[in-house]
Amino acid sequence: MNDEIRPDAHGMMTRSVHAGNDPSGPSIRTPITMANSYHLPPEPEQMSWSGTNQLFYTRNTGANQVALQDKLAALEEAEAAVALASGVAALHAVFFTFLSTGDHVVVSDTTYEATWKLWAELLPRKYGIEATFVDVTDHDAVRAAFRPETKLFAVETIANPTTKVADIAAMAGIAHEAGALLLVDSTFTPPPLYRPLADGADLVVHSLTKYINGHGDAMGGAVLGRAELIDRIKTEAMVDVGGVISPFNAWLISRGAITLPLRFAQHQQTAERVAAFLDADPRIAYVRYPGLPSHPEHDLAARQFDGRGFGAMMAFAVRGDSATQNRFVANLEVITSAVSLGHDESLIVHVGPDGPRVAAYPAEFREWGHLRFSVGLEDADDLIADLARALAATFPNGVDQRV
Ligand SMILES: Cc1ncc(COP(=O)(O)O)c(C=O)c1O
Repeated sequence: MNDEIRPDAHGMMTRSVHAGNDPSGPSIRTPITMANSYHLPPEPEQMSWSGTNQLFYTRNTGANQVALQDKLAALEEAEAAVALASGVAALHAVFFTFLSTGDHVVVSDTTYEATWKLWAELLPRKYGIEATFVDVTDHDAVRAAFRPETKLFAVETIANPTTKVADIAAMAGIAHEAGALLLVDSTFTPPPLYRPLADGADLVVHSLTKYINGHGDAMGGAVLGRAELIDRIKTEAMVDVGGVISPFNAWLISRGAITLPLRFAQHQQTAERVAAFLDADPRIAYVRYPGLPSHPEHDLAARQFDGRGFGAMMAFAVRGDSATQNRFVANLEVITSAVSLGHDESLIVHVGPDGPRVAAYPAEFREWGHLRFSVGLEDADDLIADLARALAATFPNGVDQRV
C-alpha cells in the first residue's frame, strides 16, 4: 500500500485522498478484490493459519480491508487499525478481546443504544462481566466507579443521543491511574475534528457506517490504536470470531472517506446555522448542540476540539407531546425520517421520553422526548426553510395551543 503517505509528512486532505490507495497496480485506484481466497505461497505448510498479515483468506485479511485500514490509520494518526463489519462488531471485538469473566468495566451512562444493551444486559448475563454506568462529567464519580478488577473504561466523545461531551484527557488520566484501558467511541467526532489517541485514549472505535463512509450505502466499523492492541483484536476477535467487513463495503468506505475532511467541514458549518435557528424559535422546547453556548459542556468542547468545530449532531424537541413530535417530523420534506447519521442527507429520528436508558438523560429529554438530528449536506437555507415550514404546519395556531 502507499506507505509514502504519512501523518508526519502530509496534511489531512492529502492523507484522505492518497493513504491506503495502492499506486503500484495497472490502475491508479485500488480495485475491488471480491475474493475470499488468495493464491497460497509455494510452501504453505510454513504459514500461520491464524496470521493476519498475509493475503490468503479474507477473514484473516484482504486487499480492500488493508487499503481501508491504512487510510483510517493515516487519518486518525494511529499505529494500526482493524476494519470490521459494523460499528457494533468493532465494539464487540474490543470487549471480546480484552475482557474475561469476572472483569469489570466502567461505561458512560449515555451511549449508543446497542452499546448500552451490551453492557447492561448481554455481557453481564452471558459472560459475567459487570458494568458500572457513570456520568462522565462528574470526575469524582468516575474515579469512584473503578475497582481493582476494572479492565476497561468506555466513553463516547460526544454521546449519542444527548451530545454529552466527555473530557477525554481527564478520562484517560483516571483510567490509566486505575490500570484500565480507555476506549473512546468517536463516531460523532471523526478526524479532522478530533483524534482521541492524541489525548490519551488507548483504543478508538468508529462506526464507519456514519461520517467516514458518509453516503449511507455501506456498513462498517473500525478499532484504532497501538499495534500490539490491534494485533490482538485481529487475531482473537477477527480471525476466530469473524465479523469481517466485506471487500465491497471496505472499498465503498475507502471511497467515501476520501472526502471526509471536506464533507465534515460542511456538515459542521450547516449544523451551527441550523442549531442557531432552532434555538431562537419559541416553538422549540430545547436544543442540545455542543456548539451552542447554552450547552453544558460548550467550553470543554471548544477547548477539546481546539476551534475545529462541534460536530453536526444535535437533539431537540418541539413544544408538544409525542404525537406533536411525530406530526412535526411528518411535515418535513427535505429532512428524512430514518435512523443512522452522518450521511449526505439530513436524517431525523423521534425517540420517546420513556425507557430504562432514558433515565440517565437530561430532564428535558425525559420531559419532551427527543428528535435526534444528523445535519446533512443540503443547503443550510433549504434545511432551515424545511424546519420553518414544518413548524408552521405543526403549530397552525401558535405554540400555546399545543403545550
Ligand atoms: C456512537 C455509535 N457507536 C456505534 C454505533 C454502531 O454502529 P453500526 O450501526 O455501524 O454497528 C452507532 C450507530 O448508530 C453509533 O451512533
